[in-house]
Amino acid sequence: MATFAKGLEGVTAAETRMSFIDGEKGILEYVGIPIDDLARNSTFEETVFLLWNCRLPTKGELADFTQQLRSRYALPAGMKERILSVPKNAQPMHMLRTMVSALSMHDPDPNSVEVHKVREKALNVLAQVPAIIAMFDRNRRGLPLVDPDPKLTFAENFLYMLNGVKPSPAVARAFDICMILHADHGLNNSTFSSRVVISTLSDTYSALTAAIGSLRGPLHGGANEEVMEMLFEIEDIAKKEGKDVMSIIEPFIMDKLARRHEGARIMGFGHRVYKTIDPRATFLKTFAKQIATDTGNLELYEISSRIEQIMAREVGAKGIYPNVDFYSATTYHSIGLKLDLFTPMFAMSRVSGWAGHVIEQLSDNRLYRPKAEYVGPHAAPYIPIDKR
Ligand code: SDX
Repeated sequence: MATFAKGLEGVTAAETRMSFIDGEKGILEYVGIPIDDLARNSTFEETVFLLWNCRLPTKGELADFTQQLRSRYALPAGMKERILSVPKNAQPMHMLRTMVSALSMHDPDPNSVEVHKVREKALNVLAQVPAIIAMFDRNRRGLPLVDPDPKLTFAENFLYMLNGVKPSPAVARAFDICMILHADHGLNNSTFSSRVVISTLSDTYSALTAAIGSLRGPLHGGANEEVMEMLFEIEDIAKKEGKDVMSIIEPFIMDKLARRHEGARIMGFGHRVYKTIDPRATFLKTFAKQIATDTGNLELYEISSRIEQIMAREVGAKGIYPNVDFYSATTYHSIGLKLDLFTPMFAMSRVSGWAGHVIEQLSDNRLYRPKAEYVGPHAAPYIPIDKR
């Protein structure tokens, strides 16, 4: 008789061949390859092939996969008009959830769950999410839309469509690495959501839409935006009080920690699985320092580093360390991304992980239907309304 595990904490609800996490040792591997090695040596395109095929591609296979992805960058006819009709003040994650769902209406066979067809649908969504986000953002800024360029890599193409100019190799590489680091991560809430939905043999678009809805939550993918808000808040307090920003940090963090039993959280810290530093945060920290230095954002990095020191002293013993969102915030800000696009960046990458899990679920499906422990009354009388 399975016991009740709130939040399914500690419950194994699927098998996967894509990512392995050791929360005690702070290890993350994609198909057995340490995340650091992939971040240093791979590309997002190669990483997606690895996740979807459970092996690295040959040179020819990578060229073919890259060509397949690039040939799908352009949006289906009618989607641009739909994006232009979105209110300019719509929140990007609500826009993205809606537009990915809308892609299903441009698919003549949206409901097929044959694995080879699901791969095609996943490839289309992965290829087109960058254009959806970039076109929405340029439209709300009153700028002309920029069509995708199939000669560019996934990272270059997104930044080109967003900014209207091709990114520097350094910025493109930084973004590519962020995409690698965010691609997959076991049975996190949004990935679990995608598997739950596809387990009813619903469709790829419904599964991915559900995952986007989950990722928006501040306890999950929405944390990176909240981290940036926190760094800005600290800078604003320092300016208002005319104090050195470094003197604000300790009281700010200690106050939040004092209220953690009321639910206050220092965003970008803690993790359901990692009880040591998230290896993605370790990689991003080095990265963030370099990019922040190169782009004149060193103060944000130094505030982050100080917060990390205080948190290590105060709650490190409880296994609360930086997670992937803590230093991705400074990295995204340093490469010029608007704050409310941070979580869409997470989604842009994680579409690859979600799709891989959808395919895994379909390959050995069992409908998800856990139980709920009934704790209400029994044999209750029906009291007529005029007697209540
Ligand atoms: C992601 O699952 C994944 O893999 C997700 C992800 C992925 O790649 O998909 O890794 C991406 O979502 C990273 C997490 C981003 N979220 C945040 O940064 C939000 C802040 N973090 C917390 O909300 C929290 O750490 C969670 C939600 C991430 C994990 O929470 P748990 O496992 O439910 O832990 P909990 O909230 O029950 O806290 C356990 C204890 C509590 O202390 P006590 O009440 O027992 O004394 O740790 C404390 C909490 O107060 N705690 C924190 C804290 N996180 C946990 N205290 C202050 N600040 C925090 N951030």
